[in-house]
Amino acid sequence: MSGNSPDEYLNKNRGKLFHPPDSFTKTTRLNDDSLYRKAKQDRLSFWSEMAENLHWVEKWDQLLDDANPPYYKWFVNGKLNISENCLDVHINNGLGDKKALVFEGENGDSVSLTYSQLLKEVCKFSSALNKLGVKKGDAVTIWMPMIPESIVAMLACTRIGAVHSVVFGGFSPDALKDRILDSESKVVVTADGSYRRGKVIPLRSAAEEALDECPSVENVVIVKRTGNDFKLKEGRDLLWSELMETAEDPFDPVVMDAEDPLFILYSSGTTGKPKGILHTTGGYLVGVKTTFQYVFDHREDDIYWCTADIGWITGHSYIVYGPLSNGSSTFIYEGTPDYPERDRFWELIEKYRITVFYTAPTAIRSFMRWGNHYVDKHDISSLRLLGSVGEPINPEAWLWYYEQIGKSNCPIVDTWWQTETGMTILTPLPGVTPLKPGSVTMPFPGVEVDVVDDDGKSTGPGQKGFLVIKSPWPAMLRNLYGDPERFEKTYWEQYPGLYFTGDGAWKDNDGYFWIMGRVDDVLNISGHRIGTMEVESALVEHPSAAEAAVIGKADEIKGQSITAFVTLKEGVEGNDELVQELKKHVSKKIGAIARPQEIFFTYELPKTRSGKIMRRLLRDIAEQRDLGDVTTLMDPQVIASIKEGYGAKH
Ligand code: WT7
Repeated sequence: MSGNSPDEYLNKNRGKLFHPPDSFTKTTRLNDDSLYRKAKQDRLSFWSEMAENLHWVEKWDQLLDDANPPYYKWFVNGKLNISENCLDVHINNGLGDKKALVFEGENGDSVSLTYSQLLKEVCKFSSALNKLGVKKGDAVTIWMPMIPESIVAMLACTRIGAVHSVVFGGFSPDALKDRILDSESKVVVTADGSYRRGKVIPLRSAAEEALDECPSVENVVIVKRTGNDFKLKEGRDLLWSELMETAEDPFDPVVMDAEDPLFILYSSGTTGKPKGILHTTGGYLVGVKTTFQYVFDHREDDIYWCTADIGWITGHSYIVYGPLSNGSSTFIYEGTPDYPERDRFWELIEKYRITVFYTAPTAIRSFMRWGNHYVDKHDISSLRLLGSVGEPINPEAWLWYYEQIGKSNCPIVDTWWQTETGMTILTPLPGVTPLKPGSVTMPFPGVEVDVVDDDGKSTGPGQKGFLVIKSPWPAMLRNLYGDPERFEKTYWEQYPGLYFTGDGAWKDNDGYFWIMGRVDDVLNISGHRIGTMEVESALVEHPSAAEAAVIGKADEIKGQSITAFVTLKEGVEGNDELVQELKKHVSKKIGAIARPQEIFFTYELPKTRSGKIMRRLLRDIAEQRDLGDVTTLMDPQVIASIKEGYGAKH
């Protein structure tokens, strides 16, 4: 765990509290505690009132069905369509000419789509999918760069009731294949390639073999983005542009049940196999619409920018569904912050007059290291609110963000949540909640959270424990796709009746929550979740590797970086070449984000007498801590040898 520990906080920040700046409170939509009070009075009627803000084709007849936990149902028998709520509703309210989506490509090309234009594109792609035989309940995999077509594809799925599975464009073709196979997708939407730091990253051509090995896939739709060459497979592959030419508009939204599946999003867990986290229609939209409105203080003239990729939950909830269901203008950028120069983000904020900016601590720490002169070149005074997500933010980075980017005029909403929670769970309300640098403050109104000890008992102030959610919330995951057993085991069996988050946390005397990080074998690399087991299984697939143990090592920029300890097969020599080869192998199996920073060869791994790998000891070695008791090990000698060898390299 690398987050903010109680001792560190008490030493550094005693008594510091940041109240909403005057300039902010003047225009905020909420500057009193009415929302907290309303939710506290009656949690369920609070959610019912929030749900009234959506357009329902038929109203629900039961708000929450909790008769069969953990299989909760929200807005039972309610009927609605997500794309209708994100598009048609606003057009009917006179916002047809408002910008819905503003895009800038890495090369500086720019496109914006009004709500009317976006609806037209969505209808056309809905009709195209429909013609390909995609029906309500069918799965569609989207493996795309950050371009408008990706969002059109997602919304089109929701319009016809197809279940989308967006796979991060940075994941490898092998990872894509696993996810297509698991979801049994009928259609894959992808592109010829994407731009990244001036280079073209091939997508479709790289996935040649992977796609051929997916029997469920009837069609692959390809957007031409970069002009990168690929072989069109007759009878299966189709060009987006050609499909759209003959597609029909308008296309009526399909009426969905509140509990119909909306999307699957794969996320890492403690085994080698990613979990297909399943979200459903009504509760998810109520959750993300409400949280977006209040956490990002939605104002009609906002140009809102969340820097996440649509391949992650942040992109789903707070680039697409949250902003669009509120009729906001959502900005997306294709590239990285350091291309062509390290001021690209500040340049974009200046150019598009961005008002709300939501990014990750790892990015903030990089900006900080690159230096203030990149920021100072630009007029970023349009900003009024900042956000942080993905991992604990250290107070130093928080203060830099507050002063250098927000010019001490913008509250920072540090939002804690997960792919599973669908919506922000712990977060300030920017016009209301006084901030403490490094704390995610309090539960969103209508959500009940606690920190508990090993026995599931609530802990006192300053006492470390496990973060749990005490009662169901609308945007909660409903299941793991095709694996209810794992769903029950992972989240609900640790503490009966409580949702187990997998994070360590503590509360302070004011009831503020402080996140310490994962307590399981899941790493957080630059705010992205990677399972140690995933990397380990990728490593041992290599013919030279016998066994592997992977740990997260504290990293100043990324939060954590990957260190792998590998034992080799008989007769294989562990040299630098093999290190490079193994790193490449992991990139190929999973994607560049999972590439180990360092690989260390050892004759044996530290194991308990029952054969369980003691990753804790490896973490201690890597971070040069005292090892404590090692007498329970099968072979205590191993530790001495690793320590010696590892130490020699550092
Ligand atoms: C894990 C969830 C939710 C979107 C991004 C990641 C960590 C997330 C924070 C935060 C401290 C955070 C937790 C959580 N995390 N936000 N504000 N402060 N930690 O989604 O991939 O599902 O990962 O990210 O450890 O469990 P995810």
